[in-house]
Amino acid sequence: MQQNDRSEEGFTVTPWEVEGDIDYEKLIEDFGTESVDNELLDRIEEVVGDTHFMLRRGIFYSHRDLDRILDEYEEGKKFALYTGRGPSGHTHVGHLMPWIFAKWMQDKFDVELYFQLTDDEKFLFNFDSELEDTYSYALENAKDIIALGFDPEKTHIFIDTDFIHELYPLALKVGKRLNFSNVKAVFGFDNSTNVGSIFYTAIQSAPCFLPTEREGEDVPVLIPCGIDQDPHFRLTRDIAETIGYLKPALLHNKLAPSLDGTGKMSASQPKTTIFTTDQPEDVEQKINEAFTGGRISAEEQKKKGGNPDICSVQNYRFYIFESDDEKVEDIAERCRNGDILCGPCKQLLKDNINQFLSEHQEKRKKAEDMLDDFLVKDCEEKR
Ligand code: TRP
Repeated sequence: MQQNDRSEEGFTVTPWEVEGDIDYEKLIEDFGTESVDNELLDRIEEVVGDTHFMLRRGIFYSHRDLDRILDEYEEGKKFALYTGRGPSGHTHVGHLMPWIFAKWMQDKFDVELYFQLTDDEKFLFNFDSELEDTYSYALENAKDIIALGFDPEKTHIFIDTDFIHELYPLALKVGKRLNFSNVKAVFGFDNSTNVGSIFYTAIQSAPCFLPTEREGEDVPVLIPCGIDQDPHFRLTRDIAETIGYLKPALLHNKLAPSLDGTGKMSASQPKTTIFTTDQPEDVEQKINEAFTGGRISAEEQKKKGGNPDICSVQNYRFYIFESDDEKVEDIAERCRNGDILCGPCKQLLKDNINQFLSEHQEKRKKAEDMLDDFLVKDCEEKR
């Protein structure tokens, strides 16, 4: 099956729509990817001498050809990382999750990172958006990326409309090999879809081949990304070799859940999403209203315990804000036993988030002056 469809499975995962209770194992089957098993986890640890909590906790849980990337790395062949972001609004903390991981990968493997900001995509797919707005959100998002501490020598951030001259020949090569029926089957397009959107996947594919073009020799590319982005790269992989490039490898993450206990964190639902620009009062309010696995009364919860498995507060901790496994498990255990109630448990998370955000916001402010060190653009005479 090419497209994951809610009507059959009770959830939908496409690059533009994520809804319902996602069965991540089912996605591995539907998309035809491989799971990141213990053997692979051990191998990563062996190669870089370290591991990351997002790997051990099964947040980065699925892949294509990661084993090949490691084989080549061990033979001395460096890969490049490629990831991206569709600038539809301000960055929320869920977005930071894969970026924090990408930074860890860059540090551990000592590799180049290409970061695509798709102002074009968000303009094309969101009917009411203006290009000026998606472009300015791209700049805002770039500050959050830089604030995470990427190495400016090895990190190349580009906004599509500023960098199209270098991307376009690659996008054309891809575009020539993809036909409408492939794209239609994979994304569920129909006759009312605008033609910009139909071509877009070629633009997202282009950076997969950029390192090879720039280096003048084959450079393997590894893409850490949300599993929802896999459909694009499935198409890229299908045609890569026919146009003379290596297939990109992928490492997929599960999507950060929202605070209301449904679906993924989404910028279109500001009340259940924490933005990197939020102030402590916003955090206070949003976490107070978050969905938990608590009981109707404190008394009942003390007696019967809560359910951390369905709790969005616990989820936030698990996905992003607590890197210490023991602390995560300890709090879950205290919740199950009725030893900690939702108020104090929420307070612990608020403290973690506010601590993180106050540091992040300071670095984000400094990043304003560093944009030129990171952003790559087509040179003036080419534009
Ligand atoms: N389409 C992605 C989004 O909407 C943005 C993106 C572009 C991306 N290139 C990528 C994401 C590569 C992951 C990897 O967020």
